[in-house]
Amino acid sequence: MSIHIGAQPGEIAETVLLPGDPMRAKWAAETFLDRPACVNRVRGMLGYTGTWQGQRITIHGTGMGMPSLSIYVNELIRDYGVKTLIRIGSTGAMQREVALHDLVLAMTASTLSTPSSGIFRELNFAPCADWGLLEAAHRAAVSRGRPVHVGGIYSSDAFYDERPDLNEAMTRHGILAVEMETAELYTLAARHGARALSVLTVSDHLLTGAAMSSQERETGFAAMVEIALEAALS
Ligand code: ADE
Repeated sequence: MSIHIGAQPGEIAETVLLPGDPMRAKWAAETFLDRPACVNRVRGMLGYTGTWQGQRITIHGTGMGMPSLSIYVNELIRDYGVKTLIRIGSTGAMQREVALHDLVLAMTASTLSTPSSGIFRELNFAPCADWGLLEAAHRAAVSRGRPVHVGGIYSSDAFYDERPDLNEAMTRHGILAVEMETAELYTLAARHGARALSVLTVSDHLLTGAAMSSQERETGFAAMVEIALEAALS
C-alpha cells in the first residue's frame, strides 16, 4: 500500500491507463478488461486491474489537474513499479482544423509550471511523449479511420482561465489543444525512466464554443480506450 493507493504489492500491472475521472476508470475496466478487480478506492479514486488480450492492465483515475495526477503517478511508479502510463482524457481544441471528436496525441506539453518545476529553477524543461507509444497510438488511430492530430498541447492549471491572452499565444504558436495534466505526467515519466503518452479526445472547442454532449463523450471515450490499449501492448 502507498499513501493514496490501497492496492497490495503485485495488484497493479506494469502498464496503466489513466483517466482523470475515477468513474471512467470503473467503466473502462468493466467494459474492456477481462476479470477486472477493484484494487483501489482510497478517497474514491478507483483503480482496477484485469487483462486485455491476455496482458495485465490497470486502469486508475488521476483526478483533475497536475497536483492530483502527480500524487498517483509518483506512487504508481515509485511504490508499484509501473513502467508504462497512458493518460486517456478530454481536451479543448485551440486550432480551427482540430474538430470535436478528433483525437490529439500529445508530442509535448507547454505549461506555466508543474509540481516538478522547482527542480528546474530557471530552466524550461520540455516534457515529451515516448516515441514508441506515440507511433503505435498513431498507427492504431489511422487503422480505425479516426481523425488524429499529433503535436504540442498546453497543460493549464485553470479550467476557468482568467488569462485569455495566454490561450491566444498558444493558438498562435500552433498548440493543438488544452488540458490540465500531461506536462507533469511526461516530466515524472522522464525522471523515473518510464514511458508515457497522452491520448486525448476533443470535447470542446475554445475558438468556436462547440462542446460534445455527455452521450458523445462516452462514445469518444470508448474509441480512445481501445487505441490506448493497442498502443500500450504494441
Ligand atoms: N479539458 C477539456 N477541455 C478543457 C478545457 N477547455 N480547458 C482545460 N481542460 C480541458
